[in-house]
Amino acid sequence: MYNPFSLEGKTILVTGASSGIGKATAIECSKMGATVIALGRNQKRLQDTFNQLETSGCRQYSVDLTQEDEVKAMLEGLPKLDGLVNAAGVASTTLFQFATPDKIRSIFDVNFFAPVEFTRLLLKKKLIKKGASIVFFSSVDGPVNVHIGNSTYSATKSAIASVARGMAVELASKGIRVNYLMPGQTETPLIHGNSITQDQLEQDMKSYPLGRYARPEEIAYGAIYLLSDASTFTTGTGLVIDGGFTVL
Ligand SMILES: NC(=O)c1ccc[n+]([C@@H]2O[C@H](COP(=O)([O-])OP(=O)(O)OC[C@H]3O[C@@H](n4cnc5c(N)ncnc54)[C@H](OP(=O)(O)O)[C@@H]3O)[C@@H](O)[C@H]2O)c1
Repeated sequence: MYNPFSLEGKTILVTGASSGIGKATAIECSKMGATVIALGRNQKRLQDTFNQLETSGCRQYSVDLTQEDEVKAMLEGLPKLDGLVNAAGVASTTLFQFATPDKIRSIFDVNFFAPVEFTRLLLKKKLIKKGASIVFFSSVDGPVNVHIGNSTYSATKSAIASVARGMAVELASKGIRVNYLMPGQTETPLIHGNSITQDQLEQDMKSYPLGRYARPEEIAYGAIYLLSDASTFTTGTGLVIDGGFTVL
């Protein structure tokens, strides 16, 4: 059946596959026909994702992406990739006056240095095929707007958007496309991990024109577009998926 969004025949590696958006992306990619390589840290949650993958040949790796030795060991024996989704990330809410260098470094380690170095190693080892698609996770927080207590998280998301645009230009000659997603608030454990109460979240939802936060699948569908042959002329782009939040 005609379907330019199909991922059949593609091998796609998804980081952050043990939770939230990365989990939904891994599962939805497999529903679209991809062989998925799922990365996470927590083995139990990763196994739960793996159990929901529908295609053959899928693999799972429990890896802390900030640990160079773990990453390098995992790269051995990895198949060549048609797609890479760098979804792993952390959030932390800290007023700027309490954002010490250690706190800033620790969030940059996960949200910036880990996905950048992981991608660089995959490219260096020629594990990313010509014509492949790389997707990073930025956010509307950073490139578009900011919130109180979010300056360092926002900085990581602006930085990853910038590096993705630079990579897009450099890798275009190899036919490798690089794009990034910019979600608004999405219902995952990430938004519940800080000091923000459920009441505050519900109040915030009202500021979204669509009146709610995204479901993880609604962000995963953006990743599917960027991974599929429907987007073969799209590179260096940030795709906002935010229920209209940043239009206001
Ligand atoms: N949720 C939102 O509202 C929202 C909005 C905009 C952008 N984003 C971005 O979307 C991405 C996914 O977020 P999410 O909401 O799905 O978060 P989540 O549910 O908290 O999941 C985060 C994932 O990252 C993994 N991870 C964290 N640190 C890691 C490390 N050092 N090494 C390897 N994996 C690590 C976690 O693994 P374990 O659970 O196994 O430890 C988990 O799979 C993030 O980059 C986030 O910044 C989210």
